[in-house]
Order: sequence, then structure tokens, then C-alpha cells
Amino acid sequence: MIRYSAPPLLLRDVFGDLEPVRGLLRRAAPYTPLGGWYRPDAELDEPTSPMWFQNDFVHDTLHVAGADIFLHNARYVDAAQRFYDAEVIRPHSVYVNVMAALDRAGPAHTDNPRFQGRDRSNTPMWLLRVMLWSGLFDDWTITQATAIWWMNDVEGGAFLYWPDGPDRPPHRHDHEMANSALVGDNHGMFHQVGPVGPFRRETLLVTPRAELEPVADGSRDWVVRDRGAEVHRAPLERFRVSVLWKADVYRDAEEERRQTPRRLSIPDVVDVLNRDFAGRGCDLRLTVETLEEPETIAAVQSVYPEAVPQEKLTSIFDAA
Ligand SMILES: [Fe+2]
Repeated sequence: MIRYSAPPLLLRDVFGDLEPVRGLLRRAAPYTPLGGWYRPDAELDEPTSPMWFQNDFVHDTLHVAGADIFLHNARYVDAAQRFYDAEVIRPHSVYVNVMAALDRAGPAHTDNPRFQGRDRSNTPMWLLRVMLWSGLFDDWTITQATAIWWMNDVEGGAFLYWPDGPDRPPHRHDHEMANSALVGDNHGMFHQVGPVGPFRRETLLVTPRAELEPVADGSRDWVVRDRGAEVHRAPLERFRVSVLWKADVYRDAEEERRQTPRRLSIPDVVDVLNRDFAGRGCDLRLTVETLEEPETIAAVQSVYPEAVPQEKLTSIFDAA
């Protein structure tokens, strides 16, 4: 199910008026640095995070007022239907990245997969990725469409993507990105955000407690405050703003009816992996109790290594 699919579809002039988007961005403030699975060990008072802020507009239990301009965007739905040759598109998540002053790229990656009954809300990230790269759970995979929309043009901020697979050079979406979107398969296709300006100094690091929010002084400035101090201030237009949209994809209503009742439990996942280990003549066995053990995780990951895309850029999260 690792699909190195056709290049994503490029949409231009997605919104006629950006003011509703700016309102949405203000309502979702404050923003905190990207945490999650890339940086699970971040110390709360250590300035270890670049100015890569993230927030959700829509997920299972959240819907920020005004987010429907993304969630139910007719052009996204139409593009996803064309890209996948599918009739049923079920949008479920919208979130935003706001970035500034990253002197190196984001990580080259594929997005975390989603399976019937298992996703990031109830399953460790490493296990979701093993489920993807093992190829053993394709029957439960929920195909995901992704749209990425860029609000503005900034210094840097190119988007690299590998639609020809990780063994071929990347394509780039660069310059004239403002109000454009790419709709495609970010779960099968590697992609990476290039360094983001301003580049006048080295990457400014903040603590996980830092917050980004609009300044309430009538200006268009947004400010990053960290442990009480203002560390960065600029008009919103000078930050790289990108909004992500995710939707479940089913070929048709019949496929959706057939697939949705099948729900994987954690013991199901453990059983499938253990059967595969046995079939490979490998002594490794997983139990529900050992899913958090670092040695077990490393051993399982080594059975199903992830691809490394060609010509990827050095990431802010790579060891210095
Ligand atoms: Fe991604």
C-alpha cells in the first residue's frame, strides 16, 4: 500500500478573500511549538524547539469557528476525487503550521497512516509506522487525501516532494506559492519543507512553553513570547503559514460500507506481526505489555525499515 502515486494536483487562487482565513488563524491562537512524535523527550524549560508552531482547526472533537472554508472546500473534494478516481471523500482534519527562521529543513517523511480502528489517537506512532511499512495491514488502511495550502510567499519555504518514489530525485513547489494548494497522497509520497526565512541569524530556539499569538495593538504583528520575554515579532505575512487538510477516501459507497465495520484492536495488530515474525523464522515476539519498551520497539522497527528519500535536505531534527 506504499503508493508512489502521480504528482499532486496544483490548485491556484484557492480563496478569493484571505480575511476569513486570517480570522480563523486569530481565533485558533495561541500556538505552541510542534511537539509529538518527532520530539517526545523535549524538556519544558530547555530552548530546544525551532519556531515551528502548530495548531488544530478541526479534529474528532474540535471545530474552530470558520474552519469549514477548509474542511468542506469544494475544490479540495473535487481534486481528491480526481486524484484517487474515487467518489466518497470524507474530510476529517484541518491543522495549521506557522513557521519562521528555520535555517534547516523539516524532516523528510510520509504522514502517519490511518487504519480502521487505529490512528494516532489510540495507537503509538512507531506502531502505526511499522503497520504501514510492514505492508501487513493494507486491508485495513484508510486511504488518505491531503491538501496543503500556503497563505503567502516568504523567503525560502520550498516544498519538496517525491512522487516518483524515494529512489528518484524530488520535485519542488517553490516561488509563487501564495494561495496555492497541492492535493495528493502525502501518506504514500515522501515530502519535506525546505528552510524558512528570515535567514538573518541562526535558527532561534524556544522552549516548548513558547506561544505565538497576534498582538492586540491594532497592528498586523504576531509575537512569540517565551518564559515572559518577547523573542520574535513580525507581521503575519512574514511567517510561513500552511494549512493541512485530510480526508478519508473510498472508491464508492459500497467500499465504504464494506470497510468501515472492520476495526483492528491492538491484540489484532500484535497477532498479525507475530505471525509475520514466525513466518520469517525470526524469534521476536510482541505482546501488548511490551509495546512501550525501547528495545522491543527498535527490534520491531529493524524488521520493517523505512525508505530514505534521495536528495533529502538536512533536517532541524537531525543530529547536529
Ligand atoms: Fe507531512
